[in-house]
Amino acid sequence: MPNPLEGRTVALGVSGSIACYRAPYLASKLVQHGARVDVVMTEAAAKFVTPLAFGSITHRPVVTDIFDPQTEMGIDHVAIAERSDVVVVAPATAHAMARIAHGLADDALTTTVLATRAPVVVCPAMDGHMYDNPATQENAATLRSRGITVAGPATGRLASGMYGPGRMLEPAEIIDHVRAVLGRDGDLAGRKVVATAGGTRELIDPVRFISNRSSGKMGHAAAEAARDRGASAVLVTASTTLPDPVGVSVVRVESAIDMRDAVMRECEDAEVLVMAAAVADWRPAEPSERKLKKGSAKTSSLELARTPDVVAGVRTKGLIKVGFAAETDDVERNARAKIQQKGLHFIAANDVTAAGSGFGADSNRVVLIDREGRAERLDMLSKYEVAHRILDKVLSYWDC
Ligand code: PMT
Repeated sequence: MPNPLEGRTVALGVSGSIACYRAPYLASKLVQHGARVDVVMTEAAAKFVTPLAFGSITHRPVVTDIFDPQTEMGIDHVAIAERSDVVVVAPATAHAMARIAHGLADDALTTTVLATRAPVVVCPAMDGHMYDNPATQENAATLRSRGITVAGPATGRLASGMYGPGRMLEPAEIIDHVRAVLGRDGDLAGRKVVATAGGTRELIDPVRFISNRSSGKMGHAAAEAARDRGASAVLVTASTTLPDPVGVSVVRVESAIDMRDAVMRECEDAEVLVMAAAVADWRPAEPSERKLKKGSAKTSSLELARTPDVVAGVRTKGLIKVGFAAETDDVERNARAKIQQKGLHFIAANDVTAAGSGFGADSNRVVLIDREGRAERLDMLSKYEVAHRILDKVLSYWDC
């Protein structure tokens, strides 16, 4: 199940904030993810962006008025509330949040929210002082206490020119929240999945380190895919420039030793470990506390010590352990050897020399090889799809 939005119906409620200018883009992204999008606008929202803009993107009627005699039965707010898999209010003004918190039903948006039994995601967008106001904070707390996801706001530059909390989240982040909400009852619901990402950094001195080319994308994709199937997902990540994934508990580490400690701790009550991190095999034997001076030396050498093997050391009973093998040659043979050495259930043999695969790429080509020697050769897929194929295989261990 690589795309939780495919074929799902999303009601997009739009209230009147300057952040409305980003709502058609959000609608467009939802449509591109395969969702059917019904837009419900407040009167104030229609002053910022026309219903025509949304209709042109969604190819569906846009509801603005509950009293509109032209409204067909099939597109009115109650029908939309009933057929939606999720209701997203973006942007949600302070006024819209207050009306939803108090159960008002005086326009198409609030009646849709009140009438739906689908999960609701509210994305605040307002001036910083309005957001900080205890009234808004209490309204947000009320929404959360009723199981509504309050996504954001982000902190940054606001329309007023001020800097503070109140920016609507980026459409990509909102979509991640929607995916997480849609996947809540997925096939990994109630399971804890730990994924690792990034390349560890082994300090030579306070300013230098040994590391590798891992971007963290594969590990992030594993955590996100687990989240989107309802798992309680934990990402133990070494250095990466990627933002923390939405709805995932993130533990940041630096060295192989830090990663071992965090993975051991997180795996105590986990059911799955997906070890996509590129953990250094070696570290400087005696890192210097001060910056090393080059002096007049023409050459230099560094004594290295082995790092702990993180995945081999985790022995939680019942834990499904999935490894990766980043290889440049003899890919499958080298990967097979690691299954026994590291006590893995299966391994993703990763040819990191193939174009578009491996370090830094958005896609990956892997062969899933299990203890029994069975090999499943996957096509070049996005890292998110690879992660789902790995999780599909994990599920097969519980089926038998
Ligand atoms: O991060 P990206 O840019 O998206 O790139 C993805 C990736 C290429 C890093 C990823 O797909 C991948 O192949 N990760 C494993 C990299 C690696 O360290 O391979 P390895 O063959 O050296 O290690 C085998 C397994 O043992 C891995 O699961 C590794 O996490 C684990 N290991 C390695 C060393 C060590 N000290 N402890 C470990 O647990």
